[in-house]
Amino acid sequence: MKKVITYGTYDLLHYGHTRLLERAKALGDYLIVGVTSDDFDKTRGKINVEQSLNERVQAIKETGIADEVIIEEYEGQKIDDIIKYDIDIFAIGSDWAGYFDYLKEYCEVVYLDRTKGISSSQLREERASVRLGMVGSSPILAKMAREVSYVNGVTLHAVCTDDIAHLPEEMSIDLVTSDYEAMLAHVDAVYVHSDPASHYEQVKKALEEKKHVLCETPVALSKEETSSLYALAKEQGVILMEALKTAYSLAYQRLLVLLKSGRIGRIVSVDATCTSLRDIEGDASTRFAPKWNSICTWGPTAMLPVFQFLGTDYKEKRITSQMDPVKENYDLFSKIDFLYEDAVASIKVAKGVKSEGELVISGTKGYLYVPAPWWKTDYYETRFENPANNKRYFYQLDGEGIRYEIVAFARTINSDVNLSRIDEEMSIAFAGVLEDFYAGKDCVRINVAPDAEVTTTVQA
Ligand code: CTP
Repeated sequence: MKKVITYGTYDLLHYGHTRLLERAKALGDYLIVGVTSDDFDKTRGKINVEQSLNERVQAIKETGIADEVIIEEYEGQKIDDIIKYDIDIFAIGSDWAGYFDYLKEYCEVVYLDRTKGISSSQLREERASVRLGMVGSSPILAKMAREVSYVNGVTLHAVCTDDIAHLPEEMSIDLVTSDYEAMLAHVDAVYVHSDPASHYEQVKKALEEKKHVLCETPVALSKEETSSLYALAKEQGVILMEALKTAYSLAYQRLLVLLKSGRIGRIVSVDATCTSLRDIEGDASTRFAPKWNSICTWGPTAMLPVFQFLGTDYKEKRITSQMDPVKENYDLFSKIDFLYEDAVASIKVAKGVKSEGELVISGTKGYLYVPAPWWKTDYYETRFENPANNKRYFYQLDGEGIRYEIVAFARTINSDVNLSRIDEEMSIAFAGVLEDFYAGKDCVRINVAPDAEVTTTVQA
C-alpha cells in the first residue's frame, strides 16, 4: 500500500485545498493529512487563522478525502511522521517548491500545482475588511503600517500627521493629510498615537463619527474622560480599544495564565521596571518625545501586570517623581508604590534614567522572572527554593505583539466577542494614576537643580 502525507492549515477550507487533497490522494492508496495546531501556526508567523484547530480538522474529515487526520505541532515533526507512518510520498502545493527537498532523504517529495485565484488569506480579507486610518507622528505610524501589512482584512487607507515629510516613501496610502476630519471621513477605524493630551479629543471626535478606535495607551488623562469615551463608544455602537502591545504578546499571555493557575502560589509582590533613554531634542525617531513624559510612555505598560495580578482596587499609592527642571509636567523618572490588602507592587518608569527593565512577580511558592526588556520578551522563568524545579519558557515574539493587537481589534469589530486585553476598568485605573500625577495627588516630587545634567545621550 502506497502511503501519502500532506500538511496545511486549511483555514476556511476552499476548493484550492480540496483539489490539492484529491491529487495527493491519487498519488497513492492512503492519505494522511496533517493539520497545523494553533500554536505551531503562530510560531511560523500565521497569525490570522480564523477557525479553531477542531473546526479545521472537522472540515478536512468532512471532505471524505483523507483516510487519517493528524495534528502538526512542532518544527521537524514531518520527519518523525514520515518514519512513524512509513510514508512513501510527501505531497505539498507548488508554493512550497524546493522548500521540502530535505525530506527526499526519507521519501519521495511531490510538489503539486497550486490552484490559482484562491487562498485562505484572500477569503479572510473578503470576510472582514477594515479600512484603517492613523493619526500621530511619523516614525510610530511607519512601524504600525508595517505591522498592519501582516494582518489580513485590515488595510491602511489614510494617515493624518503634521510630519508628512518624515513618512517613509514606501508607505503607499490613499490619503496623507494633516486634517484629522478629512482622514476620518475616509476610513472605518482609526489608530490614535498622537500627543497623549490630544487623545481624548481625537478619540471623542472619531467615536462621534461612528469610527472604531484603537488608541495607544493612555486613552485619556482622567478617569472621567476615559469612562465617558467608553460610554460614547457603546452609545455609538463602535469599538474602543486601548492599545498596549505587551498585553498581546504570546509570552506575556502565557505568563498570565500560568500564574493565574497558581504556579508560584499566592502573588504577594509585583515589581516592574520600564525605561528608555532618549535624546529629547535631537533624535529624529523621537521628534515628538517631549510630549510623552515617563509616566505616559511607560506607566500603563508597567501597571499592566500589577493590575492584572492584583486588581485595580489598591488601598494606597505613592508616586515619587524626579521632574525635569525646565519642561512642564515632564517626569524624568517615576516610582509608583501600590499597597493592596494582602500584596504590594512597585513600578519604575523613566525616560531620563536607565535601569534594568525586568519584571519580578513573587509568590508564596516561588517567583517568576522576566529579563529585560520584559515588555517585549519571548522568554521567562519560574524559580523555586529548589533550583531543580525551575523552569524556562520560550515563545516566538512577532512584531512585539502589535500585529496580534491589530488582529484582536479587527476581530472585535467583526464579531460579537470583545478580544481586547485591556478592559474598561483597567483603562480607567491607568487614567486614574495619571490624573493623580498631573494633580499632584499621592505624589512626592524630587527636585533637580536647574543646571544638573538631565537630558541624555543619543541612542545609537
Ligand atoms: N493550496 C493549493 N491551492 C491554493 C491554496 C492552497 O494547492 N489555492 C495548497 C497549499 O499549497 C498547501 C495546502 O493547500 O499544500 C494547504 O495550504 P494552506 O496554507 O492551508 O492554504 P492557503 O490558502 O495557502 O492559506 P494562506 O492564504 O493562509 O497562506
